[in-house]
Amino acid sequence: MRIKLFFTPAGIYDNQIAGKTSVVIDILRATTVAAVALHNGAREIIPMATLGDATGLKQKLDHSSVLLGGEREGQKVEGFDLGNSPFEYGPDIVENKSIILASTNGSAALIRGSEAEHCLSCAFVNISSALEKIIECDSDVAVICAGNKGGFSLEDALCGGMLLHRLRIAGGGKAVFDNDASWVALEMYRKHRNNLENALRRSDHGKFLISLGFEQDIAFCVKEDSLAVCPIWQQGRLILKE
Ligand code: MLT
Repeated sequence: MRIKLFFTPAGIYDNQIAGKTSVVIDILRATTVAAVALHNGAREIIPMATLGDATGLKQKLDHSSVLLGGEREGQKVEGFDLGNSPFEYGPDIVENKSIILASTNGSAALIRGSEAEHCLSCAFVNISSALEKIIECDSDVAVICAGNKGGFSLEDALCGGMLLHRLRIAGGGKAVFDNDASWVALEMYRKHRNNLENALRRSDHGKFLISLGFEQDIAFCVKEDSLAVCPIWQQGRLILKE
């Protein structure tokens, strides 16, 4: 199994993800929200790259079973039902609903990742379930960090590094790192592994979310394996594996 990690979707060129399993990571907060919403009974998550695409799709679907979620600059968008805090996606709100998710970076990264053979959504909260699914898919792996507006995000790289660490343990000599970014992510994870929450709080987006009053989201999003679900991409949406 050969593994490449990309610090941003923009770093992917040509056919680097074709035929592979792509693993998309947006810790703060889109892929954490995807795991939470599906764990709490949402039927599906439909990522949309733009706000216009998201509202347009909602108009076409059955309003009673669809919720519009996401953010711009970390905040709920005017006219949307939900923002992008995992605490907004409780079972009482999302059960049996389709969620159209328009977040700034995570939605676009998921759409890019869906060009691979298999695509799944990973966060600290569901990392073991994601790992299990990657091993089951048994193909080369592209770990895609969502990053922030085309730039690097520490929290996504740290989760990518943890995933690579776990893949090496699970795959023994068969998991081969295939680009420099993989080694960098692994080293970064090793450096911060004993205090991930502190690292997230000091990251650019972590500080920004704290300034908006979302401090509790950081502690939630860094919790490892709190949810045993793996959202997988199927025909334009994320669902839970059967
Ligand atoms: C994103 O997709 O950029 C985010 O998840 C941002 C956020 O939730 O603040």
